[in-house]
Amino acid sequence: MTASLLWTLCLITCVSVSFLVRGAVVRQYTCDSYFQSWCQLHNATVHMDTEVQASVFPRVRQLGFIYGSIGNFSHTFNNQLFKAGVLRVFARGTRITHLTMPSTIEQLYLRDNGLQAVEIEPRTRYTLRYLRLQMNRLRSLARFEHLTQLLELNLCDNLIEVVALDTFATMPNLRQLILCGNHIKTFGSSTAVVLLPSLTHLDLGGNFLTRLPLERWQLPQLINLSVRDNLLTALDSSLIVRRFPLLRILDASANALDCHSYHEALQTFVNRSVVHLIDRRMCSVDDAIVLDREAAGRTNGIIPEDGGTTVMVEVRHLKERIFLQQRTIQQQRMEIEQLRANLTTLMEQFDLVAGPARALDPF
Ligand SMILES: *[C@@H]1O[C@H](CO)[C@@H](O)[C@H](O)[C@H]1NC(C)=O
Ligand SMILES: *[C@@H]1O[C@H](CO)[C@@H](O)[C@H](O)[C@H]1NC(C)=O
Ligand SMILES: *[C@@H]1O[C@H](CO)[C@@H](O)[C@H](O)[C@H]1NC(C)=O
Ligand SMILES: *[C@@H]1O[C@H](CO)[C@@H](O)[C@H](O)[C@H]1NC(C)=O
Ligand SMILES: *[C@@H]1O[C@H](CO)[C@@H](O)[C@H](O)[C@H]1NC(C)=O
Repeated sequence: MTASLLWTLCLITCVSVSFLVRGAVVRQYTCDSYFQSWCQLHNATVHMDTEVQASVFPRVRQLGFIYGSIGNFSHTFNNQLFKAGVLRVFARGTRITHLTMPSTIEQLYLRDNGLQAVEIEPRTRYTLRYLRLQMNRLRSLARFEHLTQLLELNLCDNLIEVVALDTFATMPNLRQLILCGNHIKTFGSSTAVVLLPSLTHLDLGGNFLTRLPLERWQLPQLINLSVRDNLLTALDSSLIVRRFPLLRILDASANALDCHSYHEALQTFVNRSVVHLIDRRMCSVDDAIVLDREAAGRTNGIIPEDGGTTVMVEVRHLKERIFLQQRTIQQQRMEIEQLRANLTTLMEQFDLVAGPARALDPF
């Protein structure tokens, strides 16, 4: 059989995507569809490094893999992406288990892939700025300190137990550190103070924290802190507002805070206009409410003597109602913040249509 006959056969059977170069079949991928300015490849299957070597990816800056199977996001894979000039990658439903961190990619979104291992090379200069690896099976943050250019790191819903906060001290531009839904119990054995000069958003929700080492955290720009759904029993709210002078949003709900912490938190956060979510504790009413007995008596113009008890009960009921109303207002404020954040995300996606240079992950 001659080469030209093979070529013709291939054109018929390989639907014009594969062709022969020096005996090897080359798979030339083309965009199946676009989402905004992201080129999408559906059902790509690349497993063996030889397959990757024989793959040519579209010459685009933003490339998304949907379904199919990649298996190993290898060094060779990274090289092929680099050759195509790809700067931003997302992969969804591709079952990547092993990631060799790419040094030339700026934004990498590998949510929900079953990732178990990330390989980071200490001598490599990484340009990565946005890294989202949520909903995977990572257990370790080993060598993440070499990703010094990160602005955003999202590792929600993995299996991480220990986070040495110093890991992020090498990332002067880190703004968002999202670690929710792991098994974090401790922040390592070091007692050194960690400065994260750009951090505005820290999410530690849904972990197993019993205490926060506030005295170790120097986070001068922190605006939004979530410690929701942990095992905290105490919260030093006055230390929190001192350590994080710009704090505007604090979610400490779903923790079993003691009455002292609860009472102090309400006062401190209301006073500092920090939008806060803290569960109502089963503390005595007087403990939970800012006014004391004496003040209550005065506002009613009654000195509680014989008939005083019924008045006190009424006062308590009113206080309870005020408290519940205040909580509703707080929840609505949180929702407004959410809406604002959602609006910002939408605006960014509009920008993404206008100028891909400012693109953020729309997925
Ligand atoms: C990808 O595979 C799924 C299921 O196998 C199929 O429904 C879909 O049409 C495929 N997409 C493309 C672009 O080939
Ligand atoms: C993935 O690639 C790395 C480096 O290229 C290699 O060491 C490893 O064995 C590969 N793993 C699998 C499962 O192919
Ligand atoms: C604050 O943090 C929480 C938890 O990470 C997040 O759900 C919320 O959207 C954030 N709010 C703003 C305004 O960034
Ligand atoms: C409220 O904050 C101010 C300073 O910001 C402080 O002087 C005052 O004592 C605080 N009040 C309460 C009840 O904590
Ligand atoms: C904001 O967006 C998230 C995800 O799209 C959604 O779950 C949430 O309900 C939205 N929040 C509001 C207040 O619309």
